[in-house]
Amino acid sequence: MKPKVFLTRHLPSAGMAKLEAVAEIAPKDQSLNRHVTRGELMRGVKDADALVCYPRDKIDLELLSNARRLKVISTYSVGYDHIDIIEATKRGIYITYTPDVLSGAVADLTWALMLAISRHIIDGDQFVRRGSWSFDSDLRFLMGHDFRGKTLGILGLGRIGAEVARRGRGFGMKMIYFSRRRKRNLENELGIGRVSFDKLLAESDYLSINLSLNEATHHIIGREQLAKMKKTAIIVNTSRGAVIDENALVEALRRGSLAGAGLDVFEVEPLPKDSPLLLMSNVVLLPHIASATVETRDKMAELVADNVIDVLSGRMPKALLNRDVLLMKPLNQTRMM
Ligand code: DGY
Repeated sequence: MKPKVFLTRHLPSAGMAKLEAVAEIAPKDQSLNRHVTRGELMRGVKDADALVCYPRDKIDLELLSNARRLKVISTYSVGYDHIDIIEATKRGIYITYTPDVLSGAVADLTWALMLAISRHIIDGDQFVRRGSWSFDSDLRFLMGHDFRGKTLGILGLGRIGAEVARRGRGFGMKMIYFSRRRKRNLENELGIGRVSFDKLLAESDYLSINLSLNEATHHIIGREQLAKMKKTAIIVNTSRGAVIDENALVEALRRGSLAGAGLDVFEVEPLPKDSPLLLMSNVVLLPHIASATVETRDKMAELVADNVIDVLSGRMPKALLNRDVLLMKPLNQTRMM
């Protein structure tokens, strides 16, 4: 009998084809455009051997208690704050994710946000479309700032942070970072220096946040941290919304104690229609699309499928998140094909 893989939404075809070749897919009528409801998910995991999920799915205790046959959860994301890892590990469920393959795309979008803000790309586009462009326009209007000579601060020099820094070299910026662990190899390769968290806040002209969300990083940028930043600084967040206290950010932007923010992620997604951010001109807002390129999403889909197939074949998956699970349930016990 083929193993059953439940997907909360279908993957791009590169991943679906791999799964369809070896597994029974549920729900059958699913598509790329429809996400299952919580009720469908709760029912669907009951007899599933594998679950493919997305950051918007809450994989919590209630759901895991319902998932008695589940051997692997394969999330279509590098972020995993939506999964109760401790509970899943206790139950011997392998959790896999999609690191590396999306780092370049997320770093590119981080730079797109920095450029959009510092060079007024969105305002300029609207200005032209409104028909306001004339040779009498004030020459200072839409004047931005150079990157060269400015300081780029990176909060979290992991895979994505390192890609952001690689691109920063091309822009001729001074680069500093704060991570819990020192990254000597990257310091040598990229010419980036480790500083204290406070120094990172105080010296960054652009601050890129590239952290995973967990208890330690929740609201790591709050009122107190924002007060330590330069008035002219710009924050860019492509990680998870809740690493920033959004109310404190709005206050700082309103007061002018921070120059701007480029946000791809928010504390509540989709961004509520009454969010004060929507009325602010010194922000650029995107709908959580940092990894959304055709090439990257295809690679993510293939990795999601490979991870499922590896675990169900009793092989070590390429991107295992909870290595402790190997002690709870050795790989030979997950083998179904
Ligand atoms: C991730 O992979 O975690 C990104 O936020 C995209 O969803």
